[in-house]
Amino acid sequence: MSISKEVKRITTHVLQSMKDNGEKISMLTAYDYSMARILDAAGIDILLVGDSASNVMAGHETTLPITLDQMIYHASSVIRAVKKCLVVVDLPFGSYQGNSTKALASTIKIMKESGGHAVKMEGGIEIEDSIRRVLSAGVPVMGHLGLTPQSIYKFGTYTVRAKEEEEAQKLLRDAKHLEALGCFAIVLEKIPAQLAAEVTKALTIPVIGIGAGPDVDGQVLVTHDVMGITKDFKPRFLRRYLELFDTMKAATEEYIRDVKSGDFPNKKEQY
Ligand code: KIV
Repeated sequence: MSISKEVKRITTHVLQSMKDNGEKISMLTAYDYSMARILDAAGIDILLVGDSASNVMAGHETTLPITLDQMIYHASSVIRAVKKCLVVVDLPFGSYQGNSTKALASTIKIMKESGGHAVKMEGGIEIEDSIRRVLSAGVPVMGHLGLTPQSIYKFGTYTVRAKEEEEAQKLLRDAKHLEALGCFAIVLEKIPAQLAAEVTKALTIPVIGIGAGPDVDGQVLVTHDVMGITKDFKPRFLRRYLELFDTMKAATEEYIRDVKSGDFPNKKEQY
């Protein structure tokens, strides 16, 4: 029996039951009302209002420039669209690191102004004060380990993380620490499949992978990559289900032709 199909709304408790019963969790990104409506209607379990909006929606090279107010704009658009899925909102760079009071203030602003259901933060033990404080206010927190794009200038590249034993051990320690703090789930990004499997086995909370192999409790991808809207981003872990860039480009070319030739609008397309 599918737990996610039986329930009216996906909550953090439903996600925990899914892990406990071996039902995989599906998660995608969404940044706007129209896309969120489609994904929610299809039955997605979690929508992530990711700070990847900085790249995908605004064309920035990194996730660093996006602001708290911009995240709230995206999140409130998504919240207006969904009926069933859980909506997790990324705390953007600079809104939570190194200052737990600021982390709580940023979270409260997101929760009050967007109506999001939970927040996600990147990092392990080094952000424990922020996580603790946000949790103390009753807001569910999703962790994020492995490749953490807000630290791109520390890593230098977007290559696979935790290939070396020392980094793998730290990641495992961090994952256990996030669980002990009270996070309801964690995302593991771009790490070896074997390490992700080990972390998933060691934790009782759901582990969602992106580029982390099959032996995790769920998968997340960036919707614009899945749908082929972002044309040139083709990491090995990505599966494309559509080529919308090409499809929409061809449709636009046809529209332009029809306008230029006077074929559009025809007699039926006017008052
Ligand atoms: O911002 C984002 O889209 C993310 C996912 C890649 C997990 O954090």
